[in-house]
Amino acid sequence: MTSTGEQRRPATPAPAPGSPALAPGDIRDRRDVETLVDSFYRRVLADPLIGPLFTEVARVDWPAHLRIMADFWESSLLTPGVYRRNALRAHRDLHAEHPLRHEHFDRWLELWTATVRRTYVGPVADRAVTRARTVAGALAQNTIGGGPSPSAAVANGPVPVRIEPRPRP
Ligand code: HEM
Repeated sequence: MTSTGEQRRPATPAPAPGSPALAPGDIRDRRDVETLVDSFYRRVLADPLIGPLFTEVARVDWPAHLRIMADFWESSLLTPGVYRRNALRAHRDLHAEHPLRHEHFDRWLELWTATVRRTYVGPVADRAVTRARTVAGALAQNTIGGGPSPSAAVANGPVPVRIEPRPRP
């Protein structure tokens, strides 16, 4: 992880003529995404409910996982196509090893939302929150199945979305 911390970035300088307007303090580039992902996983690791799922159940290869997560969020928020993997499979495997519960997804969302809100402000940051809610809903649906969906972090509840399972080889 980097040592970028979770401080709000200073005001963004005026964009060059012809470039799109960017909200000051918003997520603007890969570096911002990496800062967000690093800060988020610092919180995850310190969390007694979901931290052990990463360290004791999945035994995550952190440099690889942080890079993959940055790809995922860069694709979701800034540049489509950077992430070309199957996010569902990792969570199905995890669920098979240690059953996931809605409270795990709720906590994940709570930590993600808090990290985004503390670090960035603007429309892209807003998308990071709503997109996480959507994907968490889909992942929960495809692992745990029906029943109440992730709710604690966001009052509106999840937005249904299809995450296409790729055929297993
Ligand atoms: C209960 C909540 C969650 C838990 C415990 C969890 C845990 C994990 C674990 C253990 C991995 C595998 C890491 C590795 O082995 O390197 C993983 C991968 C991943 N997770 Fe989650 N996750 C959760 C929710 C989410 C949500 C809500 C999102 C998206 C908004 C997400 C996105 C991803 C992505 C993109 C990967 C990489 C998959 C790949 O390409 O291999 N996760 N997660």
